Amino acid sequence: MMQQRLSEKSAQRKAGDTLLSVRNLCKHFPIREGILQSTVGHVRAVDGVSFDIRRGETVGLVGESGCGKTTLSQCVAGLTTPTSGEILFDTGRGGPLGQEDRIDAMPRDRYRTYRRNTQMVFQDNFASLNPRELVIDCIGRPLRVYNEASGSELTERVVELLEQVGLGRQHLYRYPHQFSGGQRQRISIARALALDPELIVLDEPTSALDVSVQAQILNLLWDLQKHRHLAYLFVTHDLSVVRHMADRTVTMYLGRVVEQGPTETIFGNAAHPYTKALLAAKPDLDDDPSVPIATLEGVVPDPARPPKGCRFHTRCPVATPDCGWEVDDIVRLLEADETLFQSLQGVARKTDLEAGLTFADETAAAALHAALGSDRVPLAMRTATETLDLNGKTVNIRFRETEEVSLTDRGEGHQAACVLGRGGQ
Ligand SMILES: Nc1ncnc2c1ncn2[C@@H]1O[C@H](COP(=O)(O)OP(=O)(O)O)[C@@H](O)[C@H]1O
Ligand code: SF4
Ligand SMILES: [Mg+2]
Repeated sequence: MMQQRLSEKSAQRKAGDTLLSVRNLCKHFPIREGILQSTVGHVRAVDGVSFDIRRGETVGLVGESGCGKTTLSQCVAGLTTPTSGEILFDTGRGGPLGQEDRIDAMPRDRYRTYRRNTQMVFQDNFASLNPRELVIDCIGRPLRVYNEASGSELTERVVELLEQVGLGRQHLYRYPHQFSGGQRQRISIARALALDPELIVLDEPTSALDVSVQAQILNLLWDLQKHRHLAYLFVTHDLSVVRHMADRTVTMYLGRVVEQGPTETIFGNAAHPYTKALLAAKPDLDDDPSVPIATLEGVVPDPARPPKGCRFHTRCPVATPDCGWEVDDIVRLLEADETLFQSLQGVARKTDLEAGLTFADETAAAALHAALGSDRVPLAMRTATETLDLNGKTVNIRFRETEEVSLTDRGEGHQAACVLGRGGQ
């Protein structure tokens, strides 16, 4: 019966069609302070992200911790409301995706279709499975909520699902703690499959598992995709997993997509220095483990005040004067130098690119002035400086204007947001 249901549904699904489209999506979290809990800023967790997921494909989403992968996944799965931007989902209305397919504006019945067709599997299955719930209730709940089955039919449907993930009837009446981590993840996958979705968002689904168990779960996901014609949004910080699983790869940095394209292209011919650094830092599993690995220097800047221009410019080893240097780069520099930072009395900002920094004494001002003209700051930043004046206790600085750094086409579905290689540079 299950096979028949699946083949009917598969016949309606056309591989390659866009199933979900994310357009200029933002999710900002307010930062509240004080007794009145007034909003003093926003964490820009997802800040203008666009990409598509096609039917039956796996899109790998990679990036360092904190870059917004989980927040983006939750928006895609409808578990949190974006601050702005659009998510379009093909509920079978016919025709190309458009404004009528916005999940926040579609009629109730089509919204239900979207929700049942988009499921999520979390990294932490201890948190996502209710410890007091039997397996049959956990996997059966979506079927009950959507009035798909009840009574003995529901039991048989749950048994079918358990068998599809390598478990069986004997597991129906057990609690989550009676299973291993890998088995619990199989239960989460069975629950996600219950309504026969078209898309599963997998947020680090194997990160908490031992390597051998990881491989089993990846194989299971691979087999399920082939049989059910599923699309996956596969979130991971492990590039070797993406390489094996994803048709296309999207790299995120500080709430933005910096590169996307066919996985082969990303791994063989990455254009963005951040993707290149990730690849160097986390080589393929097949690589020789005795070879030293390069890592990225510095830390990810605060997502409440992301750098201007290219957000990676504070860490980029090949940054140019056109990458978005700004007054905040000097503030970050000062924050790293305790003595100078303590004697900073004020930053009179005219724009993001121009300010006067006043210090407690002339010596401190002269020290900053000297530092900004020396190799203590990257050459690209010095070259981007149009004005650098010392005036008593004040250093006046102005950076040159630069263009926004956005994704540009690099051919064959490959896009990167970097001034290098853009328009023949
Ligand atoms: N509910 C929340 N409230 C405030 N900030 C949040 C919340 N959820 C996530 N963040 C912040 O948003 C940024 C992105 O987080 P997340 O999406 O979890 O990234 P990732 O999954 O890539 O590690 C981080 O700076 C995180 O601290
Ligand atoms: S635009 Fe390119 S070169 Fe410039 S900082 Fe960003 S990644 Fe580096
Ligand atoms: Mg996460």
